[in-house]
Amino acid sequence: MSTLVLVGTQWGDEGKGKIVDLLTESADLVIRFQGGNNAGHTLVVEDEKFVFHLIPSGILHAGKISVIGNGVVIDPAVLIEEITSLKKRGYLADDSGLAISRDAHIIMPYHKAIDKAREESRGGKKIGTTQRGIGPAYEDKASRKGIRVEDLIDETVFKEKLEDNLKEKNAYLKKVLNADEIDFDEVFKQYSDFAETIAKYAIDSQDFINKKIKKKKNLLLEGAQGALLDIDHGTYPYVTSSNTISGGACTGAGISPRNIDYVLGITKAYTTRVGGGPFVCELNDDMGEFLQENGGEFGATTGRPRRCGWVDIVQLQYTTAVNGLDGIALTKLDVLSGLKKIKICTGYRYNDNVLTDFPSSAKILEECTPVYEELDGFEEDISEIKEFDKLPENAKLYVKRLEELLETKVVMISVGCKRSQIIMLENPFSVI
Ligand code: GDP
Ligand code: IMO
Ligand code: MG
Repeated sequence: MSTLVLVGTQWGDEGKGKIVDLLTESADLVIRFQGGNNAGHTLVVEDEKFVFHLIPSGILHAGKISVIGNGVVIDPAVLIEEITSLKKRGYLADDSGLAISRDAHIIMPYHKAIDKAREESRGGKKIGTTQRGIGPAYEDKASRKGIRVEDLIDETVFKEKLEDNLKEKNAYLKKVLNADEIDFDEVFKQYSDFAETIAKYAIDSQDFINKKIKKKKNLLLEGAQGALLDIDHGTYPYVTSSNTISGGACTGAGISPRNIDYVLGITKAYTTRVGGGPFVCELNDDMGEFLQENGGEFGATTGRPRRCGWVDIVQLQYTTAVNGLDGIALTKLDVLSGLKKIKICTGYRYNDNVLTDFPSSAKILEECTPVYEELDGFEEDISEIKEFDKLPENAKLYVKRLEELLETKVVMISVGCKRSQIIMLENPFSVI
């Protein structure tokens, strides 16, 4: 039995989906434990592209079970759209391949309306949320107003909770946010229809998952977003509303920390960020454009261009620590090919000092500038390379330097978007 937690170590979009798909081969169960359809996880299998927002990225493997854990917030329309599209494409033929926690919270139309109206009212201080209602849904969970899967599929409970919520939300939408009110009948009808489809997947997930652990099954826990978007540990307030670090897997799936055997961090060979907030290594020049173009850095959820910069050791040392990484999957190394020089940020200049510890204050971060170490680049196309030894010498030196600075081994290197484009140095499931 082994339980592996897979998390993003930067600001999301590190290539988690691809690695989850790859590792599902070795897993019995794949579990999403936080976030919602703010996530966009892309997989390319034999030239066919899939983008998953809610359903775990292991779903393409028949015979494995994908679970949406209690820590996830679910927009039922998006979930049903994903299920329908998968079935149309010949996947999820057996409904027992997907299970949804009865404790997961539902994203309601008022959550989306509030998210949108608040962003509009923020002017120059926008968080740049995906406007999918994620923050307001987690707020309701914390204030115990939330509607869970369990509530949605019980008509009487749903009606009562929706009425209660709409009284409060409509007053807030109208009086504070100057936005349109939400109609009870419309939502009740639409969500009751959703409930019918979702009910057959609903399970007591904590019990289900822990029984699998007892049976010594292999579990793969799929994180969404990245450590620097964590509500507690990220660049607050420019973060998402859930715990994206490895610890979130315990609360978001109902697993004891004693049952986590391995934490795999997904790290892009450079850095990207979507939305607002400080980004010390951001490149607003030709190099930034090169990374954006070559890396295809446009959001998988909102299509927004991703801000790009060099890899940042100050933030990665911090996220390696808060996640307790056992190994790193380095992704998109191929994107760097063709560069004469590659830079690594090893410190932040702040006033007259050079900081090597990641400052938690967004205000301080805004005033930091990067201190770089420069390495020679590589010209060769590496996208078909399958063995580390075959990489150009300077690509190897780059990987080794990252390992040295992070004191963590790189266990796989991704060199293209396809499932097959991987240099597997050590499959984590084979060492735990
Ligand atoms: P996630 O949110 O962490 O799952 O990442 P996204 O799917 O949002 O973004 C990663 C993007 O990079 C997707 O378009 C992937 O198809 C692509 N990708 C993943 N790994 C690699 C890689 O090693 N090289 C290249 N060139 N593209 C990759
Ligand atoms: P994956 O799983 C990149 C960002 C948004 C915004 C902030 C808050 O694909 O890596 P939210 O809608 O969550 O309230 O927005 O978080 N964000 C992501 N950025 N990848 C993601 O997910 C993200 N999910 C949210 O852009 O800055
Ligand atoms: Mg993404």
